[in-house]
Amino acid sequence: MNLDEITVLYTAEEIQEKVCEMGRAISFDYEGESLLVVGILKGAFIFMADLVRQIKLPLQLDFIDVSSYGNSTVSSGEVRIMKDLEYSIKGKNVLIVEDIVDSGLTLYYITEILKKRSPQSVRIACLLDKPSRRKSPAYPDYVGFTIPDEFIVGYGLDYDEKYREYPDICILKPSVYEK
Ligand code: PRP
Ligand code: MN
Ligand code: MG
Repeated sequence: MNLDEITVLYTAEEIQEKVCEMGRAISFDYEGESLLVVGILKGAFIFMADLVRQIKLPLQLDFIDVSSYGNSTVSSGEVRIMKDLEYSIKGKNVLIVEDIVDSGLTLYYITEILKKRSPQSVRIACLLDKPSRRKSPAYPDYVGFTIPDEFIVGYGLDYDEKYREYPDICILKPSVYEK
């Protein structure tokens, strides 16, 4: 790890404790039911791997990948599906798993398209919530940490596809992306 570029916000241990807590809450809320856990690629992959091992319910996994297109600094407000789910969600309890909710655009779009496919229920679990940046209506049901408006990397989150493998959740120093 290059410590000149990042500051640790939550350690791997703190993350595990939080993920355990979220898993317990989800297991309690859906007791007696089964889940279809939908991970949003790529950022959610590490959180999802840890979370599903803390959910004590029968479950299946699927993945969706979307991309907002247009200029990357000024979002066009449009999202398109790059990789759709493999399975039908009709009649299923869908739990969307996301690493971070920022503007809310990604989650809003995915929630809207999945709701049209007649699931029994749709809920959202996100590890990080940055409510100060919200532009679209996105209301996660399970939130790990509410965070300030900083650029976050590690534990699945990237900057320019880097840092995803860092075990801690870190703040990327502005000097890295402002040059
Ligand atoms: C990031 C993050 C969320 C989304 C949040 O994904 O993982 O999915 O942005 O931003 P929003 O609330 O403003 O939509 P990104 O599109 O960078 O893809 P990645 O997961 O592959 O890194
Ligand atoms: Mn993502
Ligand atoms: Mg990204």
